[in-house]
Amino acid sequence: MDRRRGLIERYRKYLPVSEKTPVITLNEGNTPLIKAVHIDEVMRAGVRLYFKYDGLNPSGSFKDRGMTLAISKAAEKGVKAVICASTGNTSAAAAAYSARAGMGAIVLIPEGQIAMGKLAQAMIHGAMVMQINGNFDDALRLVKELVEKHNFALVNSINPFRIEGQKTAAFEVCEQLGNAPVYHALPVGNAGNITAYWKGYREFLSEGKIGSLPKMLGFQAAGAAPIVKGSPVEHPETIATAIRIGNPAGWKGAVAARDDSGGVIDSVTDEEILSAYKFIASREGIFCEPASAASLAGVIKLSEQDFFSEGDTIVCTLTGHGLKDPDNAIKLSRQPVRVSADINSVEKVITGCCI
Ligand code: F0G
Repeated sequence: MDRRRGLIERYRKYLPVSEKTPVITLNEGNTPLIKAVHIDEVMRAGVRLYFKYDGLNPSGSFKDRGMTLAISKAAEKGVKAVICASTGNTSAAAAAYSARAGMGAIVLIPEGQIAMGKLAQAMIHGAMVMQINGNFDDALRLVKELVEKHNFALVNSINPFRIEGQKTAAFEVCEQLGNAPVYHALPVGNAGNITAYWKGYREFLSEGKIGSLPKMLGFQAAGAAPIVKGSPVEHPETIATAIRIGNPAGWKGAVAARDDSGGVIDSVTDEEILSAYKFIASREGIFCEPASAASLAGVIKLSEQDFFSEGDTIVCTLTGHGLKDPDNAIKLSRQPVRVSADINSVEKVITGCCI
């Protein structure tokens, strides 16, 4: 199989496309599954943990999986522009794929609450970017109203093509592991991705490609945990801005994934998220954005409750690349040392730290 062809060609028979569908692709998917090598430092049971590093998609997040299909289907319909609400990554992916398709993109984002890299992406790809003085939930409400009146394709995950595209991540995990993992952990925001993974795993089971299903573990940020609380959160707050959502559109799908798989949806504090974020970068060598680290933060939290057994295989999806959010990376790291440009001064600093 040619892995450079993009998801639609690779998984055509599992996706709602025909010969008439123009394939808009940036060769997304086929992201690495990387084994954690220092996980015993932060977890109790001797588990095998892997990171599905979806930040290595073309626009730097898992959204590309859904966007290749959503934009291809919009192009098939002859739509002139797409529209979305976003905490950043959806807008980046929508802007990139619609640029390639020659369509307009309109994005509504919460003002001051999206990471800088994501804003830069939407802008450079030429989207019409609107910062609203509200949160993601307000933005989604507005775009839903707008598509009632105008011929735009809505490309948030309430668009079923987004879910269809994103389910391919589960296919890849199964192919990379040779079976399904025992647990699959991921951050939950608008709750599309957990719904998509669960659909993908079930389809691979019914195709006989895997012999068992994983238990789905979803983690919301403590200040934005409506599913855990059982009611919408009016003013969601978290440092993990990607999942700063108080009323997820995919609520039902997430609950079904949890209950049908025998899994868990729990919350993790910003402190737990940042501690996992730093561990992934400084011990495993992988740079993800803070929201992505909610997957590992949740797994660490459960392991402290002796949730896992020795030998369990756990996959944590790292949903977005760390470069999306350079501000947090810089704020949370040791600051560069200022040294004058002579060998003695430089050596003095090195002696203090490494030799
Ligand atoms: N991780 C990252 C990096 C995200 O950007 C998102 C969602 C999630 C996790 C949660 O995924 O919504 O399917 O439960 N970002 C959306 C956006 C909301 O607008 O970019 P979900």
